[in-house]
Amino acid sequence: MDVIEAIKLRKSIRGFKPAPVSKEALSRILDTAVRSPSTMNMQPWEFTVIAGEVLEKVRRANVEMLEAGLPPNPDVPYPDTAGIYRERRVSLGIHLFELMGITREDKAKRMEWRKRGYRFFDAPAAIIISIDRSLDVPTAMFDIGTVTQTIALTALNYDLGTCIHYQGARYPDVLRKLAGIPESKRIIICISIGYPDPEFPANKVQSEREPYQNITTWCGI
Ligand SMILES: Cc1cc2nc3c(=O)[nH]c(=O)nc-3n(C[C@H](O)[C@H](O)[C@H](O)COP(=O)(O)O)c2cc1C
Repeated sequence: MDVIEAIKLRKSIRGFKPAPVSKEALSRILDTAVRSPSTMNMQPWEFTVIAGEVLEKVRRANVEMLEAGLPPNPDVPYPDTAGIYRERRVSLGIHLFELMGITREDKAKRMEWRKRGYRFFDAPAAIIISIDRSLDVPTAMFDIGTVTQTIALTALNYDLGTCIHYQGARYPDVLRKLAGIPESKRIIICISIGYPDPEFPANKVQSEREPYQNITTWCGI
């Protein structure tokens, strides 16, 4: 697949067909993704691939924690947003809720949608990316960004869709316990992966972008 086509085609998939993803396809994706650039070639990424009964257990445990009202304690907390950044976030939420038929007042449906993220969007498989706790977080986060995007793009080559998400790692101890990720690792991000369900309403979302002209300064050209 042409690289520009892949970049333009990639979008977050939040509804998947139940068909499993083969270990071979996942291996090929990771084999390609490790070619991603990293700071001084440190390659801070470590992958835990979960599927089947393990993923089912993770889904159940995450939802139980959420329903019990336990405060999330992610390994890398992300700050609240304000101004234009908040506006973009809210705009995405409005668009997703419209497609899913969720109104502002419908607390039950809003909660159900939230749970979906904690359930890894019911994907048949997920890739959890972690880093060693000895590493500097801002530097490693940059590198995790490069490998994450490469995984998402490479997946398209196998007709697979992805959703990169923090939600699945909001209760990192669930993943540590059920997927055997040691305490010495910081869990950074989850990637749900599977065959996109074209009928799932939220998959129709086309997230907006600021035109590059508005955010680019040209100097000497
Ligand atoms: C680091 C990161 C964390 C994200 N976390 C979530 C998440 O927790 N839940 C979710 O639904 N989407 C999450 N997303 C997906 C973004 O909402 C999505 O990439 C953005 O809206 C742009 O849409 P697109 O991926 O369809 O182009 C995350 C994306 C990134 C890069």
